[in-house]
Amino acid sequence: MVENRKQNTTFYPLSSIVNKNPMDEIARIRERTDLVSFISEYISLKKMGRNFKAICPFHQEKTPSFIVSPERQIWHCFGGCGKGGDVFTFLMEYENLEFVEALRILAKRAGVELRESGFERGISSKKERIYILNKIAMDFYHFVLTKHKAGEEALKYLIDIRKIDSKLIETFMIGLSPKDGTSLSNYLIQKKKFKKEDLIEAGLAFYRGLSTGQVRVLDFFRNRIMFPLLDQRGNVVGFSGRAIEESLSSGKYINTRDTIVYHKGSMFFGLNIAKDEIKKMDKAIIMEGEFDVISSYGIGVKNVIAVKGTALTDNQASLISRFTDNVCLCFDQDDAGYEATKRSLSSLEKKGLNITVAEVKNGKDADEAIKNDPISFKKSIKQDVAVYDYLLSRILSIYDKDTIDGKRKISVNFLPIISRIGNEIVKEHYLRKLSTKLDISLDALVKEMEKIEKKEAINIKENIVSVKKQSLTRREVLEEYLTSLVIQYENPKIVLEKANHTLSNYEFETLSYGKVLNHLLIFLKKSPVFNSRNFLETLPKELLATYDTCFLYPLPKFSDTKHSEMEAVKIATELRVLFLKDKIKEISSNLRSREKEEDIKKIEVLEKELSSIINLLSEG
Ligand code: CTP
Ligand code: MN
Repeated sequence: MVENRKQNTTFYPLSSIVNKNPMDEIARIRERTDLVSFISEYISLKKMGRNFKAICPFHQEKTPSFIVSPERQIWHCFGGCGKGGDVFTFLMEYENLEFVEALRILAKRAGVELRESGFERGISSKKERIYILNKIAMDFYHFVLTKHKAGEEALKYLIDIRKIDSKLIETFMIGLSPKDGTSLSNYLIQKKKFKKEDLIEAGLAFYRGLSTGQVRVLDFFRNRIMFPLLDQRGNVVGFSGRAIEESLSSGKYINTRDTIVYHKGSMFFGLNIAKDEIKKMDKAIIMEGEFDVISSYGIGVKNVIAVKGTALTDNQASLISRFTDNVCLCFDQDDAGYEATKRSLSSLEKKGLNITVAEVKNGKDADEAIKNDPISFKKSIKQDVAVYDYLLSRILSIYDKDTIDGKRKISVNFLPIISRIGNEIVKEHYLRKLSTKLDISLDALVKEMEKIEKKEAINIKENIVSVKKQSLTRREVLEEYLTSLVIQYENPKIVLEKANHTLSNYEFETLSYGKVLNHLLIFLKKSPVFNSRNFLETLPKELLATYDTCFLYPLPKFSDTKHSEMEAVKIATELRVLFLKDKIKEISSNLRSREKEEDIKKIEVLEKELSSIINLLSEG
């Protein structure tokens, strides 16, 4: 029990049931998983006193406010997002998983076997069911293409016209959806015993009303070459289907609609296959489509993934940043490709990634270029240029830099791009370059850029205001700080008694801090030697989260214990002053409405105390 209580159980208050319960499995996983080394697999942690800190992976920040405690096996972000928890919450948050999924991964890692009962039942969660269903559909489509007579024509198209050999077909598990529009649904429902609703939920089928009033289930994909879409862990999340007959009115490509496991802007085609090569090469080459990636893989350039015809999103940028800091954009050589390059920049910049562009020659896209001249394609991948050089030369090639109108248009196009560069040195480098090319003073360009930045600042300000709404009063901030000082102090008794003396009659704005300190005071009266484990036994459950937060709070370094004691007294005194001022304000406003003898006396007393404290402060 003691052991369990010590580790903050975010999901299940551990009951006293031993063994025959999944709680036991969770506890065993916790025992065998060290939070610090686990989180270190995802982000780099720096030691800070007895805790570790890092840049929070769950929101944008410049200074680290993400704290991990090896002692208590918990983490908390003191920055904008305020998230926190244990190893399960971290993994769920980071990988966007449900609890059961995180449980399975952690159980495997810790070598803890999960029993059939208990959680295994929970695993038939919606997401898991869709993964299984999609996996079966992938095998079905693949079988139709490679083994069935119905696949002959499509197979010929892939091999002869698209030059995709059977090895590539295996690697990417390419398939074919049959023409009739019911084969897959029938197979899944009749042979595999899935429910209609499961197929709908996975996006594999849709309902169609019949004239008889009945409702039928039809396959979503028909007569298309099927590319399974897998996430980086290898779950089949959806499909994209390319029409074989291009005349189809429904479009060359269709994708699985958004489901609970598929969101187009949050994944890359091919990442499951490319991720190791991306880590090894420390670079990800991002292309537009499935065929681009597969052809590139075919000639041995394997650190390639596809965005599937759109600009990169923030989600995709943060996904790729987990594998490398270097991204090479290899989009189509048309206006759409150029626009996609431009629109991908801000998401990539935000993640601090190095961005280059590989110019595709000898074809409209990577796939064509590879077919036409694989050697020259490999060369252009090797000779990728910084994205800003690419964009500048492209803009310079469109407008005439020797006319006034041309100069204006070039700067209107390029300045917004420069203004978003995070690194000031890189920014100035391109400003100077533009200044030389246009023969315009740096001053004028900077002025123009400032106008652009002002406009953008208005948008950013709106964000800050909404954050500020949730921001705390000084008293609330100090209360958290003081409670943390006391809790993290080796021998809290001395500090707490000193602070408590100053704070007699103080009313906490955040009640939970006051309550934690009160419990601590009572505890220390009985057992003067502090033991956090014993203390937590006495602390009501609803205060546990407050305690954990204060336990992790990033305190400044104090040279010695005297120093931190002094700090605690100083903070307590400031709180007292703020409290008295607030009290006086409150009573005076009461007074204005109803003149009360009592209140006037009270104010006099308070004011006396306040001025004596202020005198004390100014002397000290
Ligand atoms: N795409 C998509 N949905 C669409 C259109 C396109 O997901 N409705 C994605 C596909 O991944 C496609 C990529 O965008 O591969 C690029 O589209 P496009 O340039 O139109 O196709 P190509 O890659 O040239 O197609 P193919 O080589 O098969 O002719
Ligand atoms: Mn193509």
